Amino acid sequence: MITRYTCGTPVETYAVTADVPEGGALQHFSLDSREPFTFSCRLGADDLIFGLGETMRGINKRGFRYLSFNYDDPYHKDEMPSMYGSHNFFVVDGDRTFGAFFDTPARVAFDMDSAGDGTVTVSCEAPGLCLYLIDGTDAYNVVKQFLGIIGPSFLPPLWAFGYGQSRWGYKSDKEIRRVADKHRALGIPLDYLCMDIDYMDRYIDFTVNGHRFPAMTQYVEDMKTKGLHLVPIVDAGIKIEPGNPVYDEGIQKGYFCTNREGENFQAEVWPGMTHFPDFLRAEVREWFGEQYKFYTDLGLDGFWNDMNEPAIFSTEYRAKTAKPDAERGDPVQPERHIADFKDFFHRLEDGTRVSNYEVHNIYGGLMTRASGEGLDRLLDRRYLLFSRSSYIGAHRYGGIWTGDNASTWHMLRQNVYHMPSLNMCGFLFSGADTGGFGGNAGRELLLRWLAVSVFTPLMRNHSALGTRRQECYRYQNPEDFKAVISLRYRLLPYLYSEFMKAALRQDMFILPMAFGFLGDETARRIEDQLLVGESIMIAPVLEKGAMGRKVYLPEPMTEVRWDGEEFRCTGADAGTREITVPLNEVVFYIRKDCLVPVAKTTAASTAELDLSDVELLGTGTAYRQYLDDGYTKDCSLERCTVLQKDL
Ligand code: GLC
Repeated sequence: MITRYTCGTPVETYAVTADVPEGGALQHFSLDSREPFTFSCRLGADDLIFGLGETMRGINKRGFRYLSFNYDDPYHKDEMPSMYGSHNFFVVDGDRTFGAFFDTPARVAFDMDSAGDGTVTVSCEAPGLCLYLIDGTDAYNVVKQFLGIIGPSFLPPLWAFGYGQSRWGYKSDKEIRRVADKHRALGIPLDYLCMDIDYMDRYIDFTVNGHRFPAMTQYVEDMKTKGLHLVPIVDAGIKIEPGNPVYDEGIQKGYFCTNREGENFQAEVWPGMTHFPDFLRAEVREWFGEQYKFYTDLGLDGFWNDMNEPAIFSTEYRAKTAKPDAERGDPVQPERHIADFKDFFHRLEDGTRVSNYEVHNIYGGLMTRASGEGLDRLLDRRYLLFSRSSYIGAHRYGGIWTGDNASTWHMLRQNVYHMPSLNMCGFLFSGADTGGFGGNAGRELLLRWLAVSVFTPLMRNHSALGTRRQECYRYQNPEDFKAVISLRYRLLPYLYSEFMKAALRQDMFILPMAFGFLGDETARRIEDQLLVGESIMIAPVLEKGAMGRKVYLPEPMTEVRWDGEEFRCTGADAGTREITVPLNEVVFYIRKDCLVPVAKTTAASTAELDLSDVELLGTGTAYRQYLDDGYTKDCSLERCTVLQKDL
């Protein structure tokens, strides 16, 4: 059961699409809807807290503090309170199981029993918000009800589930072509290549650098004939440059955010000084979405939205007023940029002016909405779209990636924690920079990371300028990388089907063990094993130097060992077991009485993969497979057919 409580005058966030009944007096919880708004509740000794989407630390959020305030900080330490997205939904699992969603574009602080005395306190400086309280039979049931009111996930095309290679620093069409050719020559499957800011003319959105990419339309077409899609990055800021048609039109129509004095706000990002489109207005979103025609006319059908928290390097205002760091002490992020966010303004549909600080957390998600709605008008097929910044609701328009992580074992583990937490908040199509963005990935880390990414919808290897080159073929024995990535392609009949089914029925695709094995106290607390769809459990190796790991099986399962050539299936009893996993192998489990359809052969790209020619692994008798052409917009569960296992 879901009830809405409206406090003050909430600003529209677009997160909830369903009608939810308004509640009367709030029971069981303490709520103070004056300024600051606070909500508090008491936890039982064994209660766990799930949710909060893109936040650091484990799957159980209890014991720490978090902050919803979208922020660009590449140093993902455990202590960092907020990341690029704000996902204000959590579930308490325990004595009294319930979910709470704090729907507000403003900054929200979550104290999840950091003092250890069993108190949860949620506070928000702005009192205007909608609070949704969800009662359910168990934590998974609560999440499913929540997913039911925020609308279905974005549906990417099949090729977006292939392997993608990306790097900040690819300078030209020739360089990207060489990367592609190398993958093809070594038989490493590949579906897309990302074009970071260097494809643009001086980092200006909706332009192409004609020297580096002299014949873009032809280039896009050539790559497509090789089964490869190109995915350009698009940043939030529009360069201040009279003569640029996008800039000129934005100025003329008053589409940019303004400063205190009402002039267009200026912020420095990659292209130099820019203005930020005021995505809070429908007219501006429509205009921004139309600009993607520049790319779709080139034949492009994949897009990567970035810097949309928005990230700000500097502002004129800050340059004038800032004191040197030493004088200011060392402010904890994101305090540093708060002055910037307070210094620029949006105009809401009703004409009210609000500072970005007051509505900060929906900005990036509304950029995704603008692009998604624009692309829906421009293309008659599905497209890839993923963004860095997000708010709940943006999952209907695009996926997300988890930003500028690093090549560390800690961040690999974080990737595992993020996936179920993001799924609980609607973001099914997500993934991390495989191998890590900052720092230098060694061979072992990249192979182990790929073995996790095989199971995440977005499987993209991305790294930063100046770091060690991270393409698989740069490492010793590229055939080992080919072996791991090939598993993704063999598993696509299952992964694609499970993703589409989960998205269409507004369910999760990657779940914590707790949700799959209700009543199993060990499973409830396990954080380094996950469920992927209805049949697969994964237990990835996440430690440097480890030859394998300990795995907990709540029920008898089929252990599947993939060695790059074939699947070796053996029965595995319930309980704890030690497994050995060589670097070029992947072990996963198929749940009791379940099946996993796998493609009979791997392929260079999804264009060459036959998702209907499958073998069925596991001990089940039937599997319901979702299948379509991979790009139709007309997706429905009616496209499922039942595959029977010949016994
Ligand atoms: C940001 C993005 C990163 C990208 C870089 C250059 O840091 O998060 O993925 O490579 O900008 O565009």
